[in-house]
Amino acid sequence: MAVTLIVGLQWGDEGKGKITDLLAGEMDYVVRYQGGHNAGHTVMIGDETFALQLIPSGVFYPHIVPVIANGVVVDPKVLLEEIDALETRGISTKNLLISGNAHLIMPYHHELDRVTERYLGKNKLGTTKRGIGPAYSDKASRVGLRVQDMADEKIFKQKLEVVLKEKNAILTKVYNRLALDFDSIYHQYIKVYAPRIIPLMANTVELLHNAVKENKNILLEGAQATYLDLDHGTYPYVTSSNPTAGGALTGTGLGPRDLTKIIGVAKAYVTRVGAGPFPTEIEGDLAELLTQRGREFGTNTGRRRRVGWLDLVMLKHAIELNSVDEVALTKLDVLDVLEFINVCVGYEIDGKAVSHVPYHQSELHRAKPIYQEFSGWRCDLSGVTKLEEFPKATKIFVDFLEQYLGVPVCLAGVGPRRSQIIDLAS
Ligand code: IMP
Repeated sequence: MAVTLIVGLQWGDEGKGKITDLLAGEMDYVVRYQGGHNAGHTVMIGDETFALQLIPSGVFYPHIVPVIANGVVVDPKVLLEEIDALETRGISTKNLLISGNAHLIMPYHHELDRVTERYLGKNKLGTTKRGIGPAYSDKASRVGLRVQDMADEKIFKQKLEVVLKEKNAILTKVYNRLALDFDSIYHQYIKVYAPRIIPLMANTVELLHNAVKENKNILLEGAQATYLDLDHGTYPYVTSSNPTAGGALTGTGLGPRDLTKIIGVAKAYVTRVGAGPFPTEIEGDLAELLTQRGREFGTNTGRRRRVGWLDLVMLKHAIELNSVDEVALTKLDVLDVLEFINVCVGYEIDGKAVSHVPYHQSELHRAKPIYQEFSGWRCDLSGVTKLEEFPKATKIFVDFLEQYLGVPVCLAGVGPRRSQIIDLAS
């Protein structure tokens, strides 16, 4: 039995979907535990590219049960569109299961995400405007609607009436927007979505505990990442869930001792979408080069990602926060053409050298990175298939990371395809 957790160690878009897809072959269950369709997982199979938002990456293997667990917020419209798009391209979604306790994203969540961002003006967070934050706020305020509520028209109606009254008051009186229509939301969720979604509903907590008892292999697939975590990220420039390891437990109902392996995924450089501190951010020609070579545009939103050098101080802290056993290092090939590569090994804050992530965010805003420079390898890594084929400069780079981080780099990504991930552990 193994329960493997895949967690992002930076600000997202590390290539978790690809690592999940690679390991999925050995899995019986692949489980999403938090976030919603703010995530964008790209998987390349042969010449085909698939971009997933909600459905776990394991869906590409017919033997796997993909599970959307209780910690996820589900927009039924997006889910059904994703199911239809996969089916049209010949990928079966018949095994998909959804927790009845997962919260629903409602039309007013989308609307509130949009208007609050607009209202914040230059202080906006740069959310994906998918209604994620408002849906998690309602969950915490105990006025959220859950997948199971769609199974009972009466309950759904009662809850929607109460909550919509409040949301419409906010939309019309605070933000000067039009009120949303009860009947059309009710019709859409109960008559259109529920008949297709309720058959997928399951007690996923029981399902996963039984799977553990039966020695099945389970993969927990994180979305977003450590520094977008509501508690441990660069608040308020974070998402509204807990992508870190703790969130994998509350988001599935598995216990801490059920986890057997934790793989942290990090890119060989760093990207971030939206606002917030980013000590190693770079601009100019070099940034443009990394953006283009790494195709650093949002899978979902198409937004250009900010780019910067690998920050080992933040990475080491993320490894501690998540009890990471092994690191999967992705997109090494993006660095192929560089003459030199910087990695951040400390910060200078107000004239003092610091080797940890400052606890007070204002200090992180003032942190100037201290870099260690490495020679670039200046050759094409995309055809490399094993550790021995790496140029010396790449080996020196990876060795340094392992020593600094204190955990092995088990996998290295050298291109977008499934076959371009090198197993360094063996
Ligand atoms: P939200 O999750 O839409 O509320 O957005 C909050 C912050 O998280 C914004 O800075 C987003 O750009 C960021 N974010 C959310 N999902 C992702 C993701 O999958 N990759 C990278 N950034 C994300």
